[in-house]
Amino acid sequence: MQKILVERLSTGIREFDKLLKGGIPRGFFVAVVGEPGTGKSIFCQHFIAQGIKEGDKNIYVTTEESRESIIAQASQFGWDFARAIDDDKLVIIDALMRGKDDPWTLVELDVEMLVNKIIEAKKYLGFGRARLVVDSMSAFWLDKPAMARKYSYFVKRILSRWDFTALLVSQYAVTTSLGFGFGIEHVADGIIRFKRSIIGGRLRRFVIIEKMRQTPHDLNLYEIGIEDGKGIVIKARTGLRKEDTVLPRRVLDKIIEAELRKEYELSPGEEEEE
Ligand SMILES: Nc1ncnc2c1ncn2[C@@H]1O[C@H](COP(=O)(O)OP(=O)(O)OP(=O)(O)O)[C@@H](O)[C@H]1O
Ligand SMILES: [Mg+2]
Repeated sequence: MQKILVERLSTGIREFDKLLKGGIPRGFFVAVVGEPGTGKSIFCQHFIAQGIKEGDKNIYVTTEESRESIIAQASQFGWDFARAIDDDKLVIIDALMRGKDDPWTLVELDVEMLVNKIIEAKKYLGFGRARLVVDSMSAFWLDKPAMARKYSYFVKRILSRWDFTALLVSQYAVTTSLGFGFGIEHVADGIIRFKRSIIGGRLRRFVIIEKMRQTPHDLNLYEIGIEDGKGIVIKARTGLRKEDTVLPRRVLDKIIEAELRKEYELSPGEEEEE
């Protein structure tokens, strides 16, 4: 039997595409996860800059930074997002500033509203292959983590009819390296995990492809750099063990327990009633 060929979209980082055997399969919903400052947003901007170059329809939803901040950040790597907006190649939906006279804004962090706005933007940009970034999805369920999975499923189910290849960002807490509610990781076709570690008093960043359906992807952890004028560069494959970039299990358990106590307002020693 002949193998069905998979069309892949370049991430905009050539060295990273190689780890993915060419790129992200068209139509995939990929979770981009990691702690603050690890490179998730910049990775997403590479993906959008590549889409602009290739003539795709591009939509970037920003919940953590303003539209201006995304444009300013992208300009540091040589990408003119303001011009792409003027040329109707890109829509940035701003869910942070919520400007009243702005058509591309979300007035509430509501998942149904998000999906409708994305479809509206896609119709505006026109028919054809599209790239979508939601940075971040976590913002939509921060106050109700139990809904994470249901919301993720809803977003994927509705938007998969619109020819999107999507990067959905999920933030992991610095303390526990865990997400706020587990949602997209299970629904996603792929997981790209960014990590950080302070080694010898210096911040180092890493990336590993944890999952990519239909792809014989690379399984190693790579050190990355973020360079002015250039963006993310893939450096050497590391020999680090998993334990070198995550907290020891014992410490992690303590932190999780403390967070749970905070959430349920239990004092130490007090247990929940059966
Ligand atoms: N022009 C630049 N040159 C070099 N490094 C930069 C430049 N701009 C940003 N950075 C680095 O990139 C980091 C931000 O990366 P990014 O915004 O992708 O993080 P993130 O994973 O999205 O974090 P968060 O979860 O907080 O949004 C900065 O903290 C800084 O270290
Ligand atoms: Mg970010």
